Amino acid sequence: MQEAITVVQDRRIILGVTGSIAAYKAADLASKLTQVGAQVDVIMTDAAQRFITPLAFQAVTGRPVYTSMWQPDAGGGLPTHIAHVGLGEGADLLVIAPATANTLAKLAHGLADDLLSVTALAARCPVVVAPAMDGGMYTHPATQANLDVLRARGVVVIEPDEGRFASGLVGKGRLPETQALLGQIRRVLGREGSLASCRVVVTAGGTRESIDPVRQVTNRSSGKQGYALAQAALDAGADVTLISAASGLPVPVGAELIPVTTAEEMQHAVLAHVERADVLIMAAAVADFRPATVAAQKIKKSGDNEAGLTIALERTPDILEAVKVARADHGWPRVVIGFAAESRDLLENAQAKLARKGLDLIAANDISATDAGFEVDTNRIVLLDADGGVTELGLTSKAAVGEAVVRRAASLLRAQRD
Ligand code: CTP
Repeated sequence: MQEAITVVQDRRIILGVTGSIAAYKAADLASKLTQVGAQVDVIMTDAAQRFITPLAFQAVTGRPVYTSMWQPDAGGGLPTHIAHVGLGEGADLLVIAPATANTLAKLAHGLADDLLSVTALAARCPVVVAPAMDGGMYTHPATQANLDVLRARGVVVIEPDEGRFASGLVGKGRLPETQALLGQIRRVLGREGSLASCRVVVTAGGTRESIDPVRQVTNRSSGKQGYALAQAALDAGADVTLISAASGLPVPVGAELIPVTTAEEMQHAVLAHVERADVLIMAAAVADFRPATVAAQKIKKSGDNEAGLTIALERTPDILEAVKVARADHGWPRVVIGFAAESRDLLENAQAKLARKGLDLIAANDISATDAGFEVDTNRIVLLDADGGVTELGLTSKAAVGEAVVRRAASLLRAQRD
C-alpha cells in the first residue's frame, strides 16, 4: 500500500476507459489512484469491455463501475437517467486513459452516444486524455486535428510513448506507464495550489568532486529530500526547476531537470536560474571541499604513492552566500530556504547558518539519527525562521517534509506580497 498523496487524497476522479489493448494498464492506474487516496469512479465503453471486465476495476477501486447510460445505479444513489450528470458534477477531474481515436473524435465534435461521451459533455471539471492507439492512427491528421481542438478547449493531452505496438508495428501511440500518468494527474489537480504561477528552484543530491578520472569526493546525500520538495512544489502548482547532483531517482513529472556534478556547476546553474525565481530551496548537500588539483591520469598506488596518498583539498564556493549577494543586488529570489545538516548542537548551528546565509527559513536536520537524514525515506526536521519561530516536524516522511516546507514557502511569499 502506498502512502496517501495529499494533492490526490479525497479527490473525486472519473476514469474513462476506452477500447484499446492498453485498457489493462488502466486497471493499474485505477488501483494506484485509489491507493493514494482518490475516490475513483470508472466508466467503461463497450469496446473497453472487450479487453477487460468491469469486475477488474470494481475490485481495485471498491466502487461500482459504470458501463451504460441505462444501467440501474449500483450504489451511488443516482437515478439512472441522470447518472452522467451526477458523476460529472461532483468530479474534480475526468481522466480518459486509454483514449482511442474514436473517443477523441467524439469528444472533439461533441458527440454523446454512450455514458462516457455524455459525461464528458456534462462535466465541468478539468479533463485529461491519454491517447493510445496502434499503427499510424495517432499521427494521422484527423486524430491530430481532433487533439488540437481538445487542447484549444483546455483539455490536457498526455503525449503517448513511442515503442512497439501489439500489432508488431513500431511508432507513437503507447499509453505511458502508470507513474507518468499519475504525475500528469497530480499536475492538473495541483494547478490552483498555493504556489500557482510561481517559479521555484530546488537543488538536490550530493555534489561530486573529481580526484582523478575514476575517483571522486562526495557525500551520503541521496537526493530524496530534494526530489520530494520538487514534487511538493509541483503539487502546489509551481513551475519547478530541479538542479540535481543525484542520479537514478525518478524525476517528478513536470519538473525541468538541470543535471550537475560539482559544487561549481551547481553554483552556476543556481545563479542562472534564481534571477527570476520566487523561491529557492537549497536541499543539496554541496561539497565544502574539493581536490586542489585534479589528476589528468588515474593515480597509481605504485611509485610515489607506495606508502599512502595525501590529497590537498580547497574550499568550494558557498552557493547560498553567493545567492545572498545576488539577491541584495536584484531582489530575486523572493524567498530563500536552506537546510542544515548537523551532527551536534542542531538548533544553535542552524540558527547561525540562517543568519549567516541570509535565509528566510532553514530546515535543521539531525544527521546522527539512523531513522532520519541520509538515504532513508524519513526525516526529522526542525524549521527555524528569520523571526525566531521554531516548528518541530517530528519523524515524518520526506514527502511530508516537502509539503511542510512548501507550505511555509507559500506563506512567506504571501507575506511579502501583502
Ligand atoms: N550550502 C551551499 N554551498 C555550500 C555548502 C552548503 O549553498 N558550499 C547550502 C546547503 O545546500 C544548505 C546550507 O548551505 O542549504 C547548509 O549546508 P550545510 O552543509 O549544513 O552547512 P555548511 O554551509 O557546509 O556549513 P558547516 O560547514 O558549518 O556545516
